[in-house]
Amino acid sequence: VILEQSLEIERSSGLKLAYLALADSRGLVFAPGGLTDGEVMGILAAKAQGRSLDRLPAHVTAAQLAQGKAGGGVQDEMGEILTRQLPTCDVRLLVDVTAAESTDELLARALHLGWGVVLANKHPLVGCTERARPLLDARGRRLRYEATVGAGLPVIATLQTLLDSGDEVQHIDGCFSGTLGFLCHCLERGQPFSTSVREAKSLGYTEPDARQDLSGMDVARKALILARSCGQDMELGDVEVEPLFPAEMRSLTAAQFMDSLESLDGAYRDRISAARDRGRVLRYVASVEDDRCRVGWREVEREDIMAALQGPDNMVRYHTRRYAGNPLVLIGPGAGPERTAAGVLADILDLASHSAMEFGQE
Ligand SMILES: NC(=O)c1ccc[n+]([C@@H]2O[C@H](COP(=O)([O-])OP(=O)(O)OC[C@H]3O[C@@H](n4cnc5c(N)ncnc54)[C@H](OP(=O)(O)O)[C@@H]3O)[C@@H](O)[C@H]2O)c1
Repeated sequence: VILEQSLEIERSSGLKLAYLALADSRGLVFAPGGLTDGEVMGILAAKAQGRSLDRLPAHVTAAQLAQGKAGGGVQDEMGEILTRQLPTCDVRLLVDVTAAESTDELLARALHLGWGVVLANKHPLVGCTERARPLLDARGRRLRYEATVGAGLPVIATLQTLLDSGDEVQHIDGCFSGTLGFLCHCLERGQPFSTSVREAKSLGYTEPDARQDLSGMDVARKALILARSCGQDMELGDVEVEPLFPAEMRSLTAAQFMDSLESLDGAYRDRISAARDRGRVLRYVASVEDDRCRVGWREVEREDIMAALQGPDNMVRYHTRRYAGNPLVLIGPGAGPERTAAGVLADILDLASHSAMEFGQE
């Protein structure tokens, strides 16, 4: 997405984006003057063929970067780059589009050294407050994380605009998972839970172990990000989470879990039909209030806009002082690589243009 747009970006904003380094879980490619488009395309092609970056000839080791210091992992290599003088570069951004749980220290270091940070990765924002504090404190000015909730939907930007303009957020609710939205849609059509989960898996909507989606924890992380964005002091453990399967199924292997899904069909059938008898539909809903965050099943009235959600679409609804009786609603696809990349790119451009303005004023 970024390569495709680079000329247009330069024309419209005057910003020339360059990749200094690209990393995967095993290796890193670094060019102090920026990688050429051809080099980036070559790296993407190699990744598409399943090759890791440590297998590429241009791969750089930590030892090379540190001029003889003992080598380490990708994070050490990244850490070395953070400290480098990069005279050709006005604004330096570190973009975390991994799903790793261990990047928080590197990101905090980047912020400390004056880099901006853009995240699609939720984990650094949902760790314990003590560890997440450097990131949480940099929200808005030096840290952007639009893609962490709703992918390309402007969920965080909208919230920030409401807060910056002096509105008071009373309650945020919505459906934050495309995978669980798809399941709701299948269940409503009368499909058994087991078949619905298998279909979601075969379409690539779930993680390889479907319990990662069905645990509700991914939705809980998004709810916590919204709560913390509103300034609430809350931990992931404070979020009340209703998983889509009983606790005894946690100890099964992923394959055993998939084989046991039929045991849940009856309960879901009863739940759906009880809701239907009351003129309602079931939705997996996240709710963020003053001092309470919940994610789980909710029966919603058929007239509720949430009931109209189809398939994997996401919805976020802001109930605020200004939007009290008639909440502000965002609806649209909340996943997919291109949309996520667009959310990340919007953050990069926003942060880069703000930082470039500050740079120009110094
Ligand atoms: N895909 C979406 O629709 C979507 C939407 C919103 C947000 N997100 C978020 O975006 C992130 C990426 O999603 P994805 O679907 O692209 O995940 P993915 O397919 O698992 O890709 C993650 C990439 O990160 C690399 N990586 C993992 N640990 C690393 C580390 N410690 N250092 C450097 N690189 C590391 C992996 O390297 P290897 O190739 O070596 O494994 C892989 O290339 C996730 O946090 C996800 O929650 C995704």
